[in-house]
Amino acid sequence: MTTASDLQQQRKQRVAMAAIAELSEGMVLGVGTGSTVNAFIDALGPWAQRLAGAVSSSEVSTRKLQALGIAILDLNDIDGLSLYIDGADESNRHLQLIKGGGAALTREKIIAAAAERFVCIVDESKLVDTLGAFPLPVEVIPMARRQVARALATLGCEARYRQGCVTDNGNHILDLHGLHITDAVALETHINQITGVVTVGLFATRPADLLLVGSDSGVQRLTAAR
Ligand code: 5RP
Repeated sequence: MTTASDLQQQRKQRVAMAAIAELSEGMVLGVGTGSTVNAFIDALGPWAQRLAGAVSSSEVSTRKLQALGIAILDLNDIDGLSLYIDGADESNRHLQLIKGGGAALTREKIIAAAAERFVCIVDESKLVDTLGAFPLPVEVIPMARRQVARALATLGCEARYRQGCVTDNGNHILDLHGLHITDAVALETHINQITGVVTVGLFATRPADLLLVGSDSGVQRLTAAR
Protein backbone atom coordinates (compact mmCIF):
# COMPACT_ATOMS: atom_id res chain seq x y z
CA MET A 1 0.00 0.00 0.00
CA THR A 2 1.29 3.46 -0.88
CA THR A 3 1.20 5.73 2.18
CA ALA A 4 1.01 9.55 2.30
CA SER A 5 4.65 9.62 3.30
CA ASP A 6 5.61 7.42 0.30
CA LEU A 7 3.82 9.92 -1.96
CA GLN A 8 5.63 12.85 -0.37
CA GLN A 9 8.96 11.09 -0.81
CA GLN A 10 8.10 10.47 -4.48
CA ARG A 11 7.39 14.22 -4.94
CA LYS A 12 10.77 15.01 -3.38
CA GLN A 13 12.53 12.51 -5.65
CA ARG A 14 10.74 13.93 -8.69
CA VAL A 15 11.81 17.49 -7.91
CA ALA A 16 15.33 16.29 -7.03
CA MET A 17 15.65 14.69 -10.48
CA ALA A 18 14.47 17.93 -12.09
CA ALA A 19 17.25 19.76 -10.25
CA ILE A 20 19.83 17.31 -11.62
CA ALA A 21 18.92 18.62 -15.09
CA GLU A 22 20.21 22.08 -14.01
CA LEU A 23 23.80 20.83 -13.53
CA SER A 24 26.60 21.39 -15.99
CA GLU A 25 30.02 19.83 -16.49
CA GLY A 26 32.86 21.10 -14.27
CA MET A 27 30.75 23.42 -12.16
CA VAL A 28 31.17 24.23 -8.47
CA LEU A 29 27.83 23.36 -6.90
CA GLY A 30 26.35 24.80 -3.72
CA VAL A 31 24.35 22.20 -1.80
CA GLY A 32 21.74 22.94 0.85
CA THR A 33 20.30 20.86 3.68
CA GLY A 34 17.14 18.88 4.41
CA SER A 35 15.17 15.87 3.26
CA THR A 36 14.51 17.25 -0.24
CA VAL A 37 18.19 18.02 -0.68
CA ASN A 38 18.99 14.52 0.62
CA ALA A 39 16.92 13.15 -2.28
CA PHE A 40 18.93 15.42 -4.60
CA ILE A 41 22.26 14.20 -3.18
CA ASP A 42 21.06 10.61 -3.53
CA ALA A 43 20.59 11.29 -7.26
CA LEU A 44 24.00 13.01 -7.63
CA GLY A 45 26.06 9.79 -7.93
CA PRO A 46 26.50 9.89 -11.73
CA TRP A 47 27.71 13.50 -11.41
CA ALA A 48 30.31 12.85 -8.71
CA GLN A 49 33.28 12.92 -11.13
CA ARG A 50 31.79 15.60 -13.38
CA LEU A 51 31.66 18.41 -10.80
CA ALA A 52 34.64 20.54 -9.78
CA GLY A 53 33.38 20.17 -6.21
CA ALA A 54 30.67 21.32 -3.83
CA VAL A 55 30.23 23.98 -1.18
CA SER A 56 28.07 22.45 1.53
CA SER A 57 25.68 24.20 3.92
CA SER A 58 25.85 21.68 6.77
CA GLU A 59 27.86 18.89 8.32
CA VAL A 60 25.07 16.43 7.39
CA SER A 61 25.17 17.34 3.69
CA THR A 62 28.98 17.35 3.75
CA ARG A 63 29.06 13.75 4.97
CA LYS A 64 26.59 12.63 2.28
CA LEU A 65 28.53 14.41 -0.47
CA GLN A 66 31.86 13.01 0.71
CA ALA A 67 30.38 9.51 0.70
CA LEU A 68 29.86 9.98 -3.05
CA GLY A 69 33.48 11.09 -3.48
CA ILE A 70 32.56 14.73 -4.19
CA ALA A 71 35.24 17.20 -3.07
CA ILE A 72 34.04 19.70 -0.46
CA LEU A 73 35.37 23.18 -1.19
CA ASP A 74 35.90 26.05 1.22
CA LEU A 75 34.11 29.19 0.05
CA ASN A 76 37.25 31.17 0.95
CA ASP A 77 39.25 29.23 -1.62
CA ILE A 78 37.02 29.97 -4.61
CA ASP A 79 35.73 33.08 -6.35
CA GLY A 80 32.07 32.13 -6.23
CA LEU A 81 29.83 29.40 -7.55
CA SER A 82 27.50 29.09 -10.46
CA LEU A 83 24.60 27.17 -8.94
CA TYR A 84 23.06 26.60 -5.54
CA ILE A 85 20.43 23.90 -4.98
CA ASP A 86 18.44 23.95 -1.74
CA GLY A 87 15.00 23.27 -0.31
CA ALA A 88 12.73 25.56 1.69
CA ASP A 89 10.07 25.45 4.37
CA GLU A 90 7.82 27.92 2.51
CA SER A 91 7.93 29.87 -0.74
CA ASN A 92 5.63 32.57 -2.06
CA ARG A 93 5.21 33.38 -5.76
CA HIS A 94 7.95 36.01 -5.60
CA LEU A 95 10.25 33.07 -4.70
CA GLN A 96 10.87 34.65 -1.31
CA LEU A 97 11.50 31.84 1.14
CA ILE A 98 11.37 30.79 4.75
CA LYS A 99 14.29 28.48 5.47
CA GLY A 100 16.01 27.11 8.55
CA GLY A 101 13.68 24.33 9.64
CA GLY A 102 16.84 22.21 9.60
CA ALA A 103 18.84 24.91 11.45
CA ALA A 104 21.32 25.45 8.59
CA LEU A 105 20.03 28.91 7.64
CA THR A 106 23.22 30.94 8.12
CA ARG A 107 25.45 28.82 5.89
CA GLU A 108 22.56 28.48 3.45
CA LYS A 109 22.23 32.25 3.23
CA ILE A 110 25.96 32.69 2.71
CA ILE A 111 25.99 30.19 -0.15
CA ALA A 112 22.84 31.70 -1.71
CA ALA A 113 24.56 35.11 -1.64
CA ALA A 114 27.67 33.70 -3.32
CA ALA A 115 25.79 31.82 -6.04
CA GLU A 116 25.06 33.22 -9.49
CA ARG A 117 21.88 31.17 -9.60
CA PHE A 118 19.73 29.74 -6.79
CA VAL A 119 17.38 26.90 -7.68
CA CYS A 120 15.00 25.99 -4.86
CA ILE A 121 13.38 22.55 -4.79
CA VAL A 122 10.14 21.95 -2.87
CA ASP A 123 7.06 19.79 -2.94
CA GLU A 124 3.78 21.56 -3.56
CA SER A 125 2.87 21.74 0.16
CA LYS A 126 5.56 24.45 0.56
CA LEU A 127 4.03 26.93 -1.92
CA VAL A 128 1.95 29.56 -0.06
CA ASP A 129 0.27 32.87 -0.78
CA THR A 130 1.67 34.56 2.32
CA LEU A 131 4.77 33.55 4.25
CA GLY A 132 4.58 32.99 8.00
CA ALA A 133 2.46 29.94 8.77
CA PHE A 134 5.76 28.06 9.10
CA PRO A 135 7.52 29.51 12.19
CA LEU A 136 10.31 31.81 11.00
CA PRO A 137 13.73 30.62 12.31
CA VAL A 138 16.23 33.16 13.64
CA GLU A 139 19.78 32.09 14.55
CA VAL A 140 21.04 33.99 17.59
CA ILE A 141 24.22 34.25 19.63
CA PRO A 142 23.47 32.14 22.76
CA MET A 143 24.15 34.92 25.32
CA ALA A 144 21.70 37.24 23.52
CA ARG A 145 18.84 34.75 23.20
CA ARG A 146 16.38 36.25 25.70
CA GLN A 147 17.28 39.81 24.78
CA VAL A 148 16.63 39.08 21.10
CA ALA A 149 13.38 37.25 21.98
CA ARG A 150 12.15 40.38 23.80
CA ALA A 151 13.01 42.57 20.80
CA LEU A 152 11.24 40.17 18.44
CA ALA A 153 8.11 40.09 20.61
CA THR A 154 7.50 43.74 19.62
CA LEU A 155 6.70 42.42 16.13
CA GLY A 156 3.58 40.78 17.57
CA CYS A 157 4.89 37.24 17.30
CA GLU A 158 5.93 34.64 19.85
CA ALA A 159 9.65 33.82 19.77
CA ARG A 160 10.08 30.22 20.95
CA TYR A 161 13.51 28.84 21.84
CA ARG A 162 14.18 25.64 19.83
CA GLN A 163 15.18 23.50 22.83
CA GLY A 164 18.23 21.30 22.40
CA CYS A 165 19.18 22.73 19.02
CA VAL A 166 22.74 24.00 18.58
CA THR A 167 23.59 25.07 15.04
CA ASP A 168 26.75 24.02 13.18
CA ASN A 169 28.01 27.51 14.14
CA GLY A 170 27.42 26.89 17.88
CA ASN A 171 24.39 29.18 18.09
CA HIS A 172 20.73 28.89 19.15
CA ILE A 173 17.48 29.16 17.18
CA LEU A 174 14.35 31.16 18.00
CA ASP A 175 11.26 30.21 15.97
CA LEU A 176 8.81 33.07 15.40
CA HIS A 177 5.19 31.93 15.58
CA GLY A 178 2.18 33.97 14.50
CA LEU A 179 3.67 36.07 11.69
CA HIS A 180 1.76 37.04 8.57
CA ILE A 181 4.54 38.41 6.36
CA THR A 182 3.34 41.03 3.92
CA ASP A 183 6.68 42.82 3.33
CA ALA A 184 9.38 40.14 3.50
CA VAL A 185 12.25 42.43 2.46
CA ALA A 186 11.42 44.96 5.21
CA LEU A 187 11.05 42.24 7.85
CA GLU A 188 14.31 40.54 6.84
CA THR A 189 16.14 43.87 7.02
CA HIS A 190 14.59 44.77 10.38
CA ILE A 191 15.35 41.43 12.09
CA ASN A 192 18.91 41.34 10.74
CA GLN A 193 19.58 44.65 12.50
CA ILE A 194 18.72 43.41 16.00
CA THR A 195 21.91 43.03 18.02
CA GLY A 196 22.59 39.37 18.75
CA VAL A 197 20.86 38.10 15.61
CA VAL A 198 23.18 36.11 13.34
CA THR A 199 20.71 35.42 10.53
CA VAL A 200 16.99 35.40 9.94
CA GLY A 201 15.66 32.56 7.79
CA LEU A 202 13.83 34.92 5.43
CA PHE A 203 15.35 34.80 1.96
CA ALA A 204 13.70 37.87 0.44
CA THR A 205 16.51 40.29 -0.44
CA ARG A 206 18.11 37.32 -2.20
CA PRO A 207 15.17 35.11 -3.25
CA ALA A 208 15.46 32.00 -5.40
CA ASP A 209 15.87 32.49 -9.15
CA LEU A 210 13.93 29.37 -10.03
CA LEU A 211 11.49 27.33 -7.95
CA LEU A 212 10.93 23.70 -8.90
CA VAL A 213 7.70 22.42 -7.37
CA GLY A 214 7.12 18.67 -7.21
CA SER A 215 3.58 17.36 -7.30
CA ASP A 216 1.90 14.05 -8.15
CA SER A 217 1.49 15.17 -11.76
CA GLY A 218 5.07 16.38 -12.36
CA VAL A 219 7.36 19.31 -11.69
CA GLN A 220 6.33 22.94 -12.17
CA ARG A 221 8.97 25.60 -12.93
CA LEU A 222 8.29 29.01 -11.40
CA THR A 223 10.31 32.15 -11.90
CA ALA A 224 9.76 35.20 -9.75
CA ALA A 225 6.76 37.45 -10.23
CA ARG A 226 8.78 40.59 -9.39
C1 5RP B 1 17.35 23.65 6.39
C2 5RP B 1 16.37 24.20 5.44
C3 5RP B 1 15.66 23.23 4.56
O1 5RP B 1 15.87 23.58 3.24
C4 5RP B 1 14.19 23.29 4.88
O2 5RP B 1 14.01 23.04 6.26
C5 5RP B 1 13.40 22.26 4.05
O3 5RP B 1 13.71 20.97 4.47
P1 5RP B 1 12.96 19.70 3.89
O4 5RP B 1 13.39 19.53 2.48
O5 5RP B 1 13.39 18.58 4.80
O6 5RP B 1 11.47 19.96 4.01
O7 5RP B 1 16.15 25.38 5.32
O8 5RP B 1 17.86 24.66 7.23
